[in-house]
Amino acid sequence: MTRPESSAAAPLQHRTVLLHEAVALLLGPGDGVYLDGTFGRGGHTRALLARLGPHARVIALDRDPQAIAAGAALAREDARLQLVHAPFSSCGAVLETLGIAQVDGMLFDLGVSSPQLDEHARGFSFRGDAPLDMRMDPTRGITAAQFLAEASVDEITRVLRDYGDERAAFQIAKALVARRERGEPVGRTAELAAVVAQAVRSREPGQDPATRTFQALRIHVNAELDELEAALAQVMRRLAVGGRLVVISFHSLEDRIVKQFIAAHARAPALSRAQQRLPLREVPFRPGLKALARLRPGVEELRANPRARSAVLRAAERVDGAQA
Ligand SMILES: C[S@@+](CC[C@H](N)C(=O)[O-])C[C@H]1O[C@@H](n2cnc3c(N)ncnc32)[C@H](O)[C@@H]1O
Repeated sequence: MTRPESSAAAPLQHRTVLLHEAVALLLGPGDGVYLDGTFGRGGHTRALLARLGPHARVIALDRDPQAIAAGAALAREDARLQLVHAPFSSCGAVLETLGIAQVDGMLFDLGVSSPQLDEHARGFSFRGDAPLDMRMDPTRGITAAQFLAEASVDEITRVLRDYGDERAAFQIAKALVARRERGEPVGRTAELAAVVAQAVRSREPGQDPATRTFQALRIHVNAELDELEAALAQVMRRLAVGGRLVVISFHSLEDRIVKQFIAAHARAPALSRAQQRLPLREVPFRPGLKALARLRPGVEELRANPRARSAVLRAAERVDGAQA
């Protein structure tokens, strides 16, 4: 999710992270059904379609209407692809509507795409000046400016600390609320960047002082961790036995959620000492997932795409355990 901003990226293009690794891990039956929960600019979807048979299906979701519009031509050309404007938290409902009970692979490449960051009008970036929006789906929810117009110092501090690891969270929150109380609420990206630059005393080398604040607000406004948990909660029911789950995270909080989800279904929970002494006959644990891989981008990918530097891919296979 932390896709650090970099001027090295070509404008409005998305360089897909861990492309070949993700697709290789995802692939199962050539004519299977796959879900790409984060279409973006279709990098993973295209690579997947290229390796699938003529009767395969790829259902690709994105909550950003611009991503869906950008993929319309591909969906017209390739009847195997179905694009749906929806958050991935509703992946089960989308599959249900399409009459699909289970899929052979599920991919979530989390966070924002380069076009979202690079198009300053979207309000995700501290470069340039634009209304402080930050919604991946501008048709719903509240903007970052609306959040800052109403939240208390405590609420803003919590968001900046929890989602941005921002050491100056309290100082930034205080400065934002003081400005609002003077009748000058922050409504634009440049204003927010300026408030943060004043409040953050120690700068991290190579990083704009606003990086952590912008990331934190984006995660909050888009409820990114809730979305991830809601999507994972549907995996055990929607992924066919033998099917693969692949998640690419960009933030340690996301990666922890994915890691714990896979571990909870792959390993028997440890018994406490008290439980071990009980004469109960345990119901044997039947794993529903087998952890397959944890990967990070290699040196070459990082050289070509600095935005990949915080990426972590985790993959697991659905095995014949109890349904969750
Ligand atoms: C990193 S990009 C995906 C890039 C894509 N794999 C590619 O190769 O072009 C993340 C995309 O996921 C979308 N997204 C993020 N959270 C989402 C959610 N909860 N539901 C649906 N789409 C989401 C964003 O709008 C963005 O387009």
